[in-house]
Amino acid sequence: DLTLHPPKLPWSHKGPIDSFDHASIRRGYQVYKQVCAACHSLKYIPYRHFVDVFMTEDEAKEEAAEIIVRDGPNDIGEMFDRPGKLTDYLPMPFPNSAAAAYANNGAVPPDLSLMVLARHGGEDYLYHLLNGYCDPPEGVELGEGQHFNPYFPGGAIGMAPPLYTDIIEYEDGTPATQSQLAKDVITFLSWTAMPEHDERKKFGMKAMLVLIPFTALCYYKKRQYWSLLK
Ligand code: HEM
Repeated sequence: DLTLHPPKLPWSHKGPIDSFDHASIRRGYQVYKQVCAACHSLKYIPYRHFVDVFMTEDEAKEEAAEIIVRDGPNDIGEMFDRPGKLTDYLPMPFPNSAAAAYANNGAVPPDLSLMVLARHGGEDYLYHLLNGYCDPPEGVELGEGQHFNPYFPGGAIGMAPPLYTDIIEYEDGTPATQSQLAKDVITFLSWTAMPEHDERKKFGMKAMLVLIPFTALCYYKKRQYWSLLK
C-alpha cells in the first residue's frame, strides 16, 4: 500500500479556546472561487452565511449578485434569470454528475461543503493532498487523466494539482505561495463544514466559567456537611 498518513499540522483554530482566523477564511474563499469552483460545488453554503464572518452584508450581496439564478415561475407562469441574492446557494460548476464525470475523465469532483469532516485526517489530509503531488514510484501505472498523490488512497487521483504559487493574486496582498493558498482554502473549508465552530468554543468557555466554580463549591459544601462525622 503506497498511501501515506498525513502528519498533524498546527492549525490556528485547533485549540479548545481558539477561533478561526477570519482573514484566512476570506482569502480561502477567494481561492475556492477562483480555482476550486471550476470543478467543485459548495451546494450547502448560502451567501447569507458570509455576512459578519468574512464579509459585510453589502459585500456578500454584491458577491451573490455576480451569479445568475434560474427562478420562477412568475405571475404569468414563465421561468426567468435573475441576479443572485443573499438567500441563494453557491452555484454548481456542472448541471449533474454525468456532466461532471464527462469533463473530468470519468472522475466526479465531490462537493466540498463537508469535506473537512468527510475524510479521515480532516484539514491535515487536505493540506497534504493539495501539496503532496509527486512523480509515481517505479512500476505504478496511471490511467488517462490520473495523477500520483501518495496521500490519496491508492495513489492515483483524477484531480490534477490544482494549486501552485501565484495562481491567483490575493486582494489583501498576502504572498500567494502554494502552501499559503492551501492553508487558506482549507481554513475556509473548515468553516463551511463547521460554521458554528467559534460560537461553540465561546459557549464552551462560558460553560467552564460556571462549571468550575460550581464544582469547587460542591466539593467545599460536601466537606463542610460531613465534617462532623470525621
Ligand atoms: C477530488 C479538493 C480543485 C477536480 C478532490 C478532493 C478534494 C479536492 C478534497 C477529494 C479527495 C478524496 O476523495 O479524498 C480540491 C480543492 C481545489 C480543487 C481544495 C482547489 C484548490 C479542483 C479542480 C478540478 C478538480 C480545479 C478540475 C479541474 C477533482 C476531481 C476529483 C477531485 C475530478 C475526484 C478525483 C478522484 O476521485 O480520483 N478535490 N480540488 N479539483 N477534484 Fe479537486
